[in-house]
Amino acid sequence: MKFFIDTAEIDEIRPLVETGLVDGVTTNPSLILKSGRDIFEVTKEICDLVDGPVSAEVAATDYETMVKEAGALYDIADNVCLKVPLTPDGLKTCKFFADQGRMVNVTLCFSATQALLAAKAGAAFISPFVGRLDDIAHDGMGLIQDIRTIYDNYDFKTEILVASTRHNMHILHSALIGADVATMPPKVIHQLFKHPLTESGLAAFVKDWEKTGQSITD
Ligand code: G3P
Repeated sequence: MKFFIDTAEIDEIRPLVETGLVDGVTTNPSLILKSGRDIFEVTKEICDLVDGPVSAEVAATDYETMVKEAGALYDIADNVCLKVPLTPDGLKTCKFFADQGRMVNVTLCFSATQALLAAKAGAAFISPFVGRLDDIAHDGMGLIQDIRTIYDNYDFKTEILVASTRHNMHILHSALIGADVATMPPKVIHQLFKHPLTESGLAAFVKDWEKTGQSITD
């Protein structure tokens, strides 16, 4: 499963990229607002840092303006993946660019039938929002399972990009279901490293090693 980071904060992305675990980045208008940065400048910086797809979202809601915005966003870098909302205009935009071999991420997906539409429109990625479904007492991970089944039934190549992840269990279940990608806020990927037995075990090894008086490098 690929790991994408869901942020537009360069200072959070850089150290994670250095771990070698980052396969891409996702942004959205709310994350651009939070960063306080210009969308073109920050997206370019992210694209320079990360080899994989960097999702940049359109702001318009009508087809004609989305297509114009898409041209400007794709021009930022070769690894820009256009992000469009799951609406008729968004899917029309998706189909237009997918037919030209461009990467499109269809976002704001909350049902399996919406995901079916996105696959038929040629989306490279579908982004179902599991955390926001959980927030309203719906089954976020159940949606991922349903999309996996539908895509496998028809051999759709659209990748399931689990979005709106909030904690370790979303990542664990995404991997168990066989989702292609999970995008996560930096705090979630940092949580994945942690286990109390790793921390206490390492503290004991460090202490015992000091007592040996040995050095591996000298
Ligand atoms: O980027 C889309 C998605 O991951 C947003 O997550 O936390 O705003 O529900 P959230």
